Amino acid sequence: MVHVNIFDTTLRDGEQSPGVNLNQLEKLEIARQLERFGVDIMEAGFPASSQGDFEAVKSIAQTIKNSSVTGLARAVKSDIDIAWDALKDAAEPRLHVFLATSPIHMQYKLMKTPEQVVQTAVDMVTYAKQKFSHVEWSAEDASRSDLDFLVKIITKVIDAGATVINLPDTVGYTTPEEYGRMFRYIRENVPNIHRAALSCHCHDDLGMAVANSLAAIENGATQVEGTINGIGERAGNASLEEIAVALNIRKDKYPYATNLVLKEIKRTSDIVSRFTGMKVPGNKAVVGKNAFAHESGIHQDGVLKNALTYEIITPEMVGVQSNDLVLGKHSGRHAFKDKIEQMGFVLSAEKLNEAFQSFKQLTDHKKEVTDEDLFTILIDIQTAAVDVKKYELVAFQVQYASANLPTATVALTTPEGERVETARTGSGSVEALYNTLEALMKEKIHLTDFNLSSVGSGRDALAEVHVKMTVNGTTVSGRGSAQDVLEAAAKAFINAVNRVFFNQKAAKEPATL
Ligand code: KIV
Ligand code: ZN
Repeated sequence: MVHVNIFDTTLRDGEQSPGVNLNQLEKLEIARQLERFGVDIMEAGFPASSQGDFEAVKSIAQTIKNSSVTGLARAVKSDIDIAWDALKDAAEPRLHVFLATSPIHMQYKLMKTPEQVVQTAVDMVTYAKQKFSHVEWSAEDASRSDLDFLVKIITKVIDAGATVINLPDTVGYTTPEEYGRMFRYIRENVPNIHRAALSCHCHDDLGMAVANSLAAIENGATQVEGTINGIGERAGNASLEEIAVALNIRKDKYPYATNLVLKEIKRTSDIVSRFTGMKVPGNKAVVGKNAFAHESGIHQDGVLKNALTYEIITPEMVGVQSNDLVLGKHSGRHAFKDKIEQMGFVLSAEKLNEAFQSFKQLTDHKKEVTDEDLFTILIDIQTAAVDVKKYELVAFQVQYASANLPTATVALTTPEGERVETARTGSGSVEALYNTLEALMKEKIHLTDFNLSSVGSGRDALAEVHVKMTVNGTTVSGRGSAQDVLEAAAKAFINAVNRVFFNQKAAKEPATL
């Protein structure tokens, strides 16, 4: 079987999804999960884009040992220098440098002639090779580029030392037949192509990103790039979990091997969804809630007789647990610890203690605590920042009566350690609560999105709230969970505001979990 390298760009192209705003600890946690999932290469960010991204890439590079860590750079020396500073401690540092090659990008965006583009690409790959032994060069908008121009520039950048050539469908324009033909053409016409890996990178604007990636693999791509849950710019990137499962289920058609651990798919998808606030649609292939649900009587009957009648992927294959081992009021610390280890969490003694207390509090109100509940509690504790000044909720009360204006009273401690308290009204309970929280904070806050969902089912399910807001002009997101919807709403608001303090601290020093 031919081996195909998996290049994950959830933390770079995925993080470019509108409204997504991960902090350093969340990025680090996603990176650790990507390592468990078995990706060969992970793109941890774009170090020159901001100090925060630089620090995040640096901490991931210092932590991850079993995947090669890369960072994006424009074709300019300063980006390459900054990327090297962020990546030099990685087990296998790698640079990803890109330059557009399509006529429209060269003329209007770069304002360079094709000859100048070739020269810049060659110069920057040569420069990068003085620092990095692995250099990936991307021909941005390759799918709308002239094939013979691609042959010429690829030949030269390989001579300059590029070890991977990536041909992105940047605007999600191509079709499987066309994209496959481009890979075949490059394989057959670039004389030194055997000296580099050939990579595909697809966007989903026309809904063909996964199909296009598979066509590229069939036509000579030895590396595939994508994101978890298909998140990314505009309509997103090719969904890596879909590619992984397609390659596995249809081995008959795709005789290609990867290092991915398919059982880690569900956990990886859950973590990415929770941190980004981008819910996975119920009907999403492979990881959607309904991917294994059979509604029609005929289908249910068939599955009971033989699962293969309507089920081509088993839930177990992608790590969906069918037998949630439920914990309850009487479960002790030992059972709790075993359970969370089974779920893939490694917590410090202090955080384990905190998690056990939260679990015990939950069992006072909820008879059975499911895996989903535990995951929600644990993931928040796992990535809670320590040693950062922040607002903390002391107590709150909301009065609602259908005939009166809702009123909220809130007590908080401020980042300076002062206890403050006030009350405000609003046209609804959440508005009253948010008006009160805002009145207690010094920051200028503007809420842009509010999303409430339940974790699992049942009347006693946990509530989860995701918010997006600007705080002093910076866009941040926040999340909070609790059994009560208003408490979850308050936590999400405070979590979003506290991110501003965390980001300020993290921009100065790398964070650790
Ligand atoms: O889609 C694209 O072209 C990219 C490049 C930076 C590789 O993401
Ligand atoms: Zn892209």
